[in-house]
Amino acid sequence: MLTIALSKGRILDDTLPLLAAAGIVPTENPDKSRKLIIPTTQDDVRLLIVRATDVPTYVEHGAADLGVAGKDVLLEYGGQGLYEPLDLRIARCKLMTAGAIGAPEPKGRLRVATKFVNVAKRYYAEQGRQVDIIKLYGSMELAPLVGLADKIIDVVDTGNTLKANGLEAQELIAHISSRLVVNKASMKMQHGRIQALIDTLREAVETHHPH
Ligand code: ATP
Ligand code: PRP
Repeated sequence: MLTIALSKGRILDDTLPLLAAAGIVPTENPDKSRKLIIPTTQDDVRLLIVRATDVPTYVEHGAADLGVAGKDVLLEYGGQGLYEPLDLRIARCKLMTAGAIGAPEPKGRLRVATKFVNVAKRYYAEQGRQVDIIKLYGSMELAPLVGLADKIIDVVDTGNTLKANGLEAQELIAHISSRLVVNKASMKMQHGRIQALIDTLREAVETHHPH
């Protein structure tokens, strides 16, 4: 059995056409189903539906052989526990700092609200900047508006969310897209099969999302 961990929403929507190119099609619509284990048209391939931030955990521990996760999630998760053999070129966005439009740089310690705590620590440590990181789980854009933080770190695509809240994107931390991740032991134990799937997905990416 090959088990693939995916999250609902944009990753699922954009990954299903790539899996279909490899002949892997869920037997029921994962967006509608309440099931968390979804069989596919290949008897020996199944999908696990997990939270986006939980994909690396399932794959590193071998509960899933493969997964699809945003590079933002992988940067935050950290560690050397996973192979990351393929950029799927889906769910593209940028990880950025943002603050209130026209707000002056604070003099003292910077207060940064984000769900990307590890990324934030690393980013400001590299800059030699003293910061207080405030962990949030969502709606980060609110923090500068109500004085909880000076800046946020979040993913930005169109910039509409920032704009709607009077914020502006500032520094680019990383270009983001979703990656195929593979459990290290699975890669050894089922090498032929997994490598064949990676090769097929690579071709599908070239077709669906050419450079
Ligand atoms: P959770 O459900 O655990 O809160 P989430 O809300 O971050 O996770 P999604 O919104 O489905 O989950 O995002 C999945 C991935 O898609 C993110 O990790 C990021 O890489 C990318 N992403 C997030 N927002 C955007 C966006 N507006 N445009 C393009 N890609 C995005
Ligand atoms: C993400 C992210 C930002 C927003 C950025 O949220 O947390 O808030 O998208 O996208 P934008 O620059 O295009 O506004 P979420 O997944 O809730 O957004 P979405 O589903 O509305 O894209």
